[in-house]
Amino acid sequence: MDRLVEADMSRRDLLIASAASVAAGGTAAQAADALAPAGSTPGPPGAEVSLKVNGQDRTLTLDNRTTLLDALREHLQLTGAKKGCDHGQCGTCTVIVEGRRINSCLTLAVMHQGEEITTIEGLGKPGDLHPMQAAFVKHDGYQCGYCTPGQICSAVSVLEEIKAGIPSHVSDDLNARPKVTAEELRERMSGNICRCGAYSNIVDAITDVSGGRA
Ligand code: FES
Ligand code: FES
Repeated sequence: MDRLVEADMSRRDLLIASAASVAAGGTAAQAADALAPAGSTPGPPGAEVSLKVNGQDRTLTLDNRTTLLDALREHLQLTGAKKGCDHGQCGTCTVIVEGRRINSCLTLAVMHQGEEITTIEGLGKPGDLHPMQAAFVKHDGYQCGYCTPGQICSAVSVLEEIKAGIPSHVSDDLNARPKVTAEELRERMSGNICRCGAYSNIVDAITDVSGGRA
């Protein structure tokens, strides 16, 4: 019983301190630090991070451990990029950073100070779709849609990589300009898993945008 009362008191103390601190312009984390016993380790350090997201300058104060995916989803409410595995295995969190596709769950937001980030929201909007978004619609490149934002960001980057002459593991000649073939596209998109199995239609959509025949 005593322990219950004690637990309730400390929880209540924390809520009161949090409310007071936030009202005074502090954060809940600062309030928690203020209540920490003397000599204990302080809370995680925060950092101010400036990012250019979909053409807009955004500055956030974040726990240094915040992933780019969480910064986008939880702090900027850009929920297009999805959290699938959170371990770099599914590609559903793919965004484009400084022109290159990355798994945003595997990188910290603070590592991208001043960098330009494009999410699915920045590629196009309803009524003004990016050609890749329109092609996914045209070719039924999705079913549930959970993987689709990552697939589309990846697909846009894949065509840029091919255009830039970057070879893949299935390129026959590393010195020749790679072609848009089904094999190339499947290999280059292999980091983006689709549980619904829309792979064939995704290849059709990317091929369509490339103007090629796969
Ligand atoms: S959520 Fe990032 S790779 Fe799966
Ligand atoms: S469309 Fe459902 S996981 Fe890809």
